[in-house]
Amino acid sequence: MLLPFTSETYSQRRSELLKSVTSGLILLLGNEEVGRNYKANIYEFRQDSTFLYYFGIEQPNLVGILDVEEGTAHLFGNDIGLDDIIWTGQQPSIADLGAKVGVEHTADIAAAGEMLQKAVQQGRSVHYLPPYRLRNAHKLEQWLDVPLELAQSNASIALIKGVVAQRSIKSEAEITEMERAVDITAVIHKALMRKARPNIQEALLAGIAKGTAVGMNGDLAYPPIVTVNGQTLHNHHHHNTLQSGQLVLVDAGAETTSRYAGDITRTFPVDDTFSNQQKEIYNIVLDAETSVIRMLRAGLAYRDMHILAAARIVEGLKGLGLMKGDTNEAVAAGAHALFFPHGLGHHIGLDVHDMEDLGEDYVGYDEHIRRSKQFGTAYLRLGKQLQAGNVITVEPGIYFIPELIDRWQSEGKFTNFINYNALDAYRDFSGIRIEDNVLITENSSRVLGDPIPKTVAEVEALRSA
Ligand code: GLY
Ligand code: MN
Repeated sequence: MLLPFTSETYSQRRSELLKSVTSGLILLLGNEEVGRNYKANIYEFRQDSTFLYYFGIEQPNLVGILDVEEGTAHLFGNDIGLDDIIWTGQQPSIADLGAKVGVEHTADIAAAGEMLQKAVQQGRSVHYLPPYRLRNAHKLEQWLDVPLELAQSNASIALIKGVVAQRSIKSEAEITEMERAVDITAVIHKALMRKARPNIQEALLAGIAKGTAVGMNGDLAYPPIVTVNGQTLHNHHHHNTLQSGQLVLVDAGAETTSRYAGDITRTFPVDDTFSNQQKEIYNIVLDAETSVIRMLRAGLAYRDMHILAAARIVEGLKGLGLMKGDTNEAVAAGAHALFFPHGLGHHIGLDVHDMEDLGEDYVGYDEHIRRSKQFGTAYLRLGKQLQAGNVITVEPGIYFIPELIDRWQSEGKFTNFINYNALDAYRDFSGIRIEDNVLITENSSRVLGDPIPKTVAEVEALRSA
């Protein structure tokens, strides 16, 4: 088993985490295998990302415990027997695995339960993170007597905040891994841009995305969006046949063997070139994306970048006669959300939406910047001030969603900002999103990974090559 980081790195991360709580135990649960349709036919195993960050080991049925008073780290798991060796081959012992990540104290799983139950009897706190898998919620019930329905809400806020503070700032070594994730992602996107043409299926493109990622020793970090219906934001169907005149929206990102994610979106024509109407909308989205990236640096509130992107979109749509009125007033009222109904971006790292299992608001907001309740901006996952070492996505889009247009029009919503009659010519347009992954530095930012065609000229050059 190759680990992406040194054993000292994992030890240092755990030492830092110990400072996030004042006393007791910190419990970090690894994941188990999950059956697809019966126990032995499993979904591909994916370790919990926080467990990976602190213990590094990609293997099912492991438990990590830190003792805050003693400053010790413990790794629990069962060594395999001959029966398992016949099916899986010889595997390192738990003691060997512990040594690779700087953990001295190792024991079998039953000992984890005993250590936790003893701590509870002694009145010590046991800090744990909100479980997103039922099996881990069951373990909390079994070992800590936490009722299933309270497993989320009883999680330790101090521990959540400690993990978020650490994982939000990527080290040089992590950035190298993330760069690799985007490099693989770039190969995927360029392959799809080359392959697309009338009469082939979305499914073929989705298959090439998956196959390219796996073929480069990675995988996809999330179900890919490969669609001629980009107006449906999380469209995971791949059943359409590409037709001349359509746009293809590809939102796909690779996951490295170390499990760092890329999350990139490009939109390109099925034909070799964009139509004029497509080009006009594309350039507005591109302007929003690049305007934000040019501004990015530590200290800026990402909520303000979302507002900037919305304002660039309103300006552009006003130029086409689709919107009207004062740009800032339109954005403040939320009128842009007819076209841009999602957030500008999110943290990315070991998870494509990094640390979302710990609670979106702990990751993206704080006591200074609270989540908006306004339609559209409410979906913004990251509003707080950026810090050097954050890696985030920038992903504005413009979509023509007939159901939303009809609803707003029938309600007479924002008629002072939206020219509904002009939208008739866009009902079948679909949508455009452009997304990059960006490292925040003290005074600037850096788009990660190999370049992927992004301007109209670059996309058309690759399409017709
Ligand atoms: N890549 C999908 C998303 O960011 O929601
Ligand atoms: Mn994204």
